[in-house]
Amino acid sequence: MRLITLQTQHTTYQMGVNDLGFLLHLYYGPKADGDMSWLLTGYDRGFSGNPYDAGDDRTFSLDVVPLEYPCYGSGDFRSPAFNIRNSRGVFGADLRFRQYDVISGKYSIPGLPNVYADDKDAYTVEVVLADKASGVEVVLKYGVLPKLDAITRSAVVRNRGNQTIYIDKAGSACLDFLSGDYDLLHFYGRHAMERNLERVPLIHGRQDFSSRRGTSSHQHNPFFILADRETTEDYGSCYGMMLLYSGNFSCEAERDQFHQTRIQTGLLDEMFDYPLGPGEEFYTPEAALVYTQGGLTELSHKYHRLIREHVVRGKYKTGKRPVLINNWEATYLEFTGDQIIEIGRQAAELGVDMLVLDDGWFGKRDTDDSGLGDWYVNEEKLGGSLKRIADAVNGTGMKFGLWIEPEMVNEDSDLYREHPDWAYVIPGRRPVRGRNQLVLDFSRKEVVDHIFEQISAVIDGANVEYIKMDMNRSICDVFSAVEGFQNYGKIMYEYVLGVYDFLERLIQRYPDMLIEGCSGGGGRFDAGMLYYTPQIWCSDNTDAIERIRIQHGTSFGYPISAVGSHVSAAPNHQTGRVTELKTRGVVAMAGSFGYELDLSLLTEEEKAEVKEQIKDYKKYQELIYTGDYYRLHTPGKDTEIAAWVFVSQDRSEALLNIVSLDTHGNEPANYVRMRGLDPEKPYLCESTGKIYSGAALMYAGYPVPVVMGEYKTWQVHLTIEKESA
Ligand code: GLA
Repeated sequence: MRLITLQTQHTTYQMGVNDLGFLLHLYYGPKADGDMSWLLTGYDRGFSGNPYDAGDDRTFSLDVVPLEYPCYGSGDFRSPAFNIRNSRGVFGADLRFRQYDVISGKYSIPGLPNVYADDKDAYTVEVVLADKASGVEVVLKYGVLPKLDAITRSAVVRNRGNQTIYIDKAGSACLDFLSGDYDLLHFYGRHAMERNLERVPLIHGRQDFSSRRGTSSHQHNPFFILADRETTEDYGSCYGMMLLYSGNFSCEAERDQFHQTRIQTGLLDEMFDYPLGPGEEFYTPEAALVYTQGGLTELSHKYHRLIREHVVRGKYKTGKRPVLINNWEATYLEFTGDQIIEIGRQAAELGVDMLVLDDGWFGKRDTDDSGLGDWYVNEEKLGGSLKRIADAVNGTGMKFGLWIEPEMVNEDSDLYREHPDWAYVIPGRRPVRGRNQLVLDFSRKEVVDHIFEQISAVIDGANVEYIKMDMNRSICDVFSAVEGFQNYGKIMYEYVLGVYDFLERLIQRYPDMLIEGCSGGGGRFDAGMLYYTPQIWCSDNTDAIERIRIQHGTSFGYPISAVGSHVSAAPNHQTGRVTELKTRGVVAMAGSFGYELDLSLLTEEEKAEVKEQIKDYKKYQELIYTGDYYRLHTPGKDTEIAAWVFVSQDRSEALLNIVSLDTHGNEPANYVRMRGLDPEKPYLCESTGKIYSGAALMYAGYPVPVVMGEYKTWQVHLTIEKESA
């Protein structure tokens, strides 16, 4: 068997090409040597057919062997990674190996986000497969980042035949496992309650979760983990699959008749029927795979590094993010320019770095049923130009930022009156409205051009240093008013390319701009967006207690630096819950910190506290952004206490965060067992001067004081004493 082996520092991934030219998957796991084809077994199985070329050998069946890029129509009846249809409606392909190449450096994908790396830090393997009958060629790309134990995958489909074919499914990555009892960890949710962790055993049959909302969605995240049943935070085997894509996707796990497992991810294949003419190429989004034997925390740390160092780009990849004040929960759509300037003035006094003017500054936008699409400044409402406000804000020493929602249009807008055919509406049907708005057809270049020109003219007119790019509804009524083949999947894929094109233009034109992604909070929180926007507003739910859960789930795949998180008012606007300012501050510090409330309603004591919070945040920012994040509790399981800790890479510094959730009479003492410390070193608590053994903090735990009241917070900064460092 011809072998293709990918090696990272701690993992090995091996494929094999058999005599018939089928690309088999042999092994993915801890470092292993040699030829692993001995893992394959072959038995004559009923109802598992044999490829014609196998002749009399009834022991070889594609229905049973592990495959690298399984196709429909090959006799494999599990869920395929690839399927095409010809113009007569015939489905299926028979992909056979043609050649493979090893190239230094990491490949990139035109128009789509991808992991990037210096040539010395990565290599690419390209495996070419071909289907003789249709002339279709598939190039499987593997990007190997040895130091991070990460392997990326994507595929290019090329039509080298002379007939148009239709791609019905083209997965980004697929992994077959010969044995094992696995759990699936995935992240489900809803608007204002995103990314709840759910851990379930695999069943026989298929478990899948997906988005058909046009965005990656609040409901499911394009990231999941396959773990051994006994895998914990600290120990055990686990595989991560993360899609770098912000539109319709699917993730699948399937346990077959022989208890074998297949997992895969890629574009949603439902209603996907992408026409590919002779000579044309199609690119799948990229998936990033990570394997570790070291448990879920280690898996998270590897993804955090991968995203921080090889996905996020630009000045703010490493640069400190400004502490911001956003006016949304302070004013909603009702404000004047002078009010905004006043919010800025007050925020500057407290040490805030940037003011963000949210929704409502453009077109006719006093309510949410008008104005979207009209990206010119409403000078009447603002009492002057945007420059006047930006200059006033800059005058206080702060930066100025702006909210936009480029993909949307209200029917009550000049844009819609002029170009009704730019919105997704199916002829003869009345569209679904979401938040009173329709979706612009970003699969059309002229639409993206127009919106980009309008928005960049606004940015050019004032000193705008930050953009919050929002997207506030799910997409349906997909119909592109251009001549040609109307296929939902094609338009939705090209829509996402249009969004990426818009973002890429923004980045190229304003390289120093900080862009925050947003979709009704965390409805498009994915690694695809993080290629353009270093941070994403994590949720419209700003309740500190709910945020603990949302941020916990988010942390499995995404780094803290990606998490947009603000201190808001009490009672909270989404839940009515009252929490102390300190608690809100500590929770918001597990992210890109900011405020989103009416500062004029704060008491003098609260203002003094805000000043201290900002100072603390700035002191710990480096540790929070670049340190390792350890989850110290499980929401739902640990009901009394929530806790998490940031530990510097050299383990000399740690910031422990604890929030009490539930309170009881005669409360037992709770101990938070820390993780990631150096067990052999003593740690000094900055505020009390107490010395703690690293080992005792980890194996006995930090005692949480018993106090009256719920939602109390402790933030404990610990450093290894200089002389023992
Ligand atoms: C979305 C965002 C909010 C805010 C509003 C404005 O819901 O998530 O933060 O910007 O839109 O309309």
